[in-house]
Amino acid sequence: MKIIIVGATGTLGKKVAEAFASKHEIIRVGNTKGDVQVDITNETSIKNMFEQIGAFDALISTSGKGPFAPVNQLTGEVFKSGLLDKLLGQVNLVLIGQHYINKGGSFTLTSGILAENPVAAGSALSTINGGLNAFVLASAPELGNGIRINAVSPNVVEDSPAYFESFPGEIPVTMEKVVKAYEKSVLGILTGQVIKVY
Ligand SMILES: NC(=O)c1ccc[n+]([C@@H]2O[C@H](COP(=O)([O-])OP(=O)(O)OC[C@H]3O[C@@H](n4cnc5c(N)ncnc54)[C@H](OP(=O)(O)O)[C@@H]3O)[C@@H](O)[C@H]2O)c1
Repeated sequence: MKIIIVGATGTLGKKVAEAFASKHEIIRVGNTKGDVQVDITNETSIKNMFEQIGAFDALISTSGKGPFAPVNQLTGEVFKSGLLDKLLGQVNLVLIGQHYINKGGSFTLTSGILAENPVAAGSALSTINGGLNAFVLASAPELGNGIRINAVSPNVVEDSPAYFESFPGEIPVTMEKVVKAYEKSVLGILTGQVIKVY
């Protein structure tokens, strides 16, 4: 399979790319690094990425940033930065990518545990993750051509110790479990699902 991984140079993406690389053709996409660069907040940049890569069988997104800020300090502008990046950025990978993906292909986006397990200062990211999960649920039946879409929703991962303090009471998940969730989405038959790695 020809698999595009947007965010392949990051903490999650590196491990996911390594796991798929033995049996598949991987296009590693980053913002500043990788085989190809894209800015998911810019629709022209996304279109250019697909033009450059051409038809593909699966796209995994392990990209997308959102702000951490307490509600009493949160502003619409700060909130919007996350909506345009982690939420609309990943949605646009699907909206634009659907015109380049092969029949029977799949999209796998990344949301996160905050959709239903809130933490302090996480309300923007909880909203964004919930939005991604809802998009996957609602768009799956309309994609057609046998194209599937899922979200992987991880807890904080073992390779991101800087986040541990922000997730009190949570046991960081192993990268092996996280990688397996992406394999389940890309290599399995699920669609419209949120694959939780808690
Ligand atoms: N880490 C965790 O514990 C955890 C837990 C649950 C969910 N998540 C979610 O998983 C995703 C990946 O997290 P991570 O910790 O692996 O992040 P990360 O280490 O910061 O990596 C981010 C990746 O996205 C790329 N990127 C950054 N801005 C971009 C843009 N505007 N357009 C395209 N690509 C861009 C980066 O490329 P460059 O390297 O070229 O800059 C890098 O490959 C995020 O959505 C995060 O919210 C993470």
